[in-house]
Amino acid sequence: MASVAVIGGTGMNQWPGLVVHKQVRMDTPYGAPSAPLLQGKVYGIEAVFLARHGEGHRIPPHAINYRANVWALKQAGVRTVVAIAAVGAIAPWLPPGAVAVPEDLIDYTWNRQHTYSDGADAELQHVAFTEPYSERVRRELIHAALAARIDVAESGVMAVTQGPRLESAAEIRRLKRDGCDMVGMTGMPEAGLARELGLDYGCLAVSVNWAAGIGRGDIHAEIHESIDTGMERVRAILQHALPALRAGDEEMS
Ligand code: HPA
Repeated sequence: MASVAVIGGTGMNQWPGLVVHKQVRMDTPYGAPSAPLLQGKVYGIEAVFLARHGEGHRIPPHAINYRANVWALKQAGVRTVVAIAAVGAIAPWLPPGAVAVPEDLIDYTWNRQHTYSDGADAELQHVAFTEPYSERVRRELIHAALAARIDVAESGVMAVTQGPRLESAAEIRRLKRDGCDMVGMTGMPEAGLARELGLDYGCLAVSVNWAAGIGRGDIHAEIHESIDTGMERVRAILQHALPALRAGDEEMS
């Protein structure tokens, strides 16, 4: 059974290299996930892939059913999740095409279904979120990048904004004052929900543009130019990370 899942986002709506054995359309108490879970083998390792924005990349960040997505992975026996996120760079050390393994986040999203702890029957959980990303997953992703000879930023704070519009320059200045290094639209509530269900969750963030007001170029042109290189790096890191993540899952069981 596959214990490691990859949630792919913009730029990685599919996982070339994954030999799909089974497409599972799931239902959950929260509705249907964005897409069928693709179960198969990649680099000799059993893995699951979920396209966060759905087949054909149709679902915008604020309309993703994060609860159904994370619930479906848990139901499928997944223990470890690597979330792939395209981000805008706020910090100077994250030029377009570069990859980071964030260690913390700030949630600026609103009006998303962000918890399983609601409704009269639900168990109320105040999950610890001091470290929103699993340190085990972070470590393995960083080791994997070293093995793949890909430079990664080993930390960084991710701002998660509501979208789907990009930010204003003043909003980015505020995020910078808050201590954010990068900005994306899908990191929350995904990470919080994974914590509520006890999944080990880490993120590979790919810088695809300078955030608003940081660079001088056209943001969409930057995204177009850098996204493929960034995602190639992500796939190379995953190739090295998956065996270690899988072995870690087996040790814990
Ligand atoms: N802002 C928010 N989300 C993003 C960006 C950005 O600049 N680039 C890619 N995802």
